[in-house]
Amino acid sequence: MNLEKSPVPLGLFLGSDFPIVSTNKFSGLQVEKFIQLKQQSAPVFFYSADIERYVAMFPDHAISEVCVTCHNEHPNTPKQDWKLHDIMGATTWLYPDETVSLEEIMDVVFEIRQSIAAAYMKYLDKCKTFQSSPDIGDKWPDQGYYLPDSKTFMDFYERQASLKTMSILLSKNNLRND
Ligand code: HEC
Repeated sequence: MNLEKSPVPLGLFLGSDFPIVSTNKFSGLQVEKFIQLKQQSAPVFFYSADIERYVAMFPDHAISEVCVTCHNEHPNTPKQDWKLHDIMGATTWLYPDETVSLEEIMDVVFEIRQSIAAAYMKYLDKCKTFQSSPDIGDKWPDQGYYLPDSKTFMDFYERQASLKTMSILLSKNNLRND
């Protein structure tokens, strides 16, 4: 993944208790914390001494029937009765420090956005190989057989995310004073 290759020591994986790919299975403390996350249907934050990482887990809900059908029908799935709205796993972030400096958090935000853009461009490259590939430009799939190009996609993402990012930065909750 692009983020793993970036200079920031931030780790990310999508884990589950019933994963299609066995390396996505939670282990150790993450198992307990994932049970807690499912009970409260809210993110959990903790320190994992075995891997020396601060961990943040965010629920990954089956927001659409396609999540459920694809997973239930996948040949490697250990679970075939996923239902709509189930918590199918957790987006799990790992970081070596409890707090960050302003400069560090800016680097992290920058690298995450770069990784999202890179992942989306990889997806577009794959779509271009389809027998009948969608038109890529400034239109969205709800307007027809279209996909947004990476600029349109990232502009939209930034409009959705930037206000929240800025508010978090200004609240300085988790910022170190150095
Ligand atoms: C077209 C099939 C498909 C669809 C649609 C799909 N997934 Fe997956 N999902 C997979 C496959 C295949 C993997 C394993 C990928 C890997 O790690 O290499 C995976 C991995 C995952 C994982 C990590 C644990 C695991 O099973 O390995 C979670 C959690 C997950 N998907 C949730 C979702 C959610 C939530 C949705 C809907 C928003 C969704 N998936 C839609 C096929 C699908």
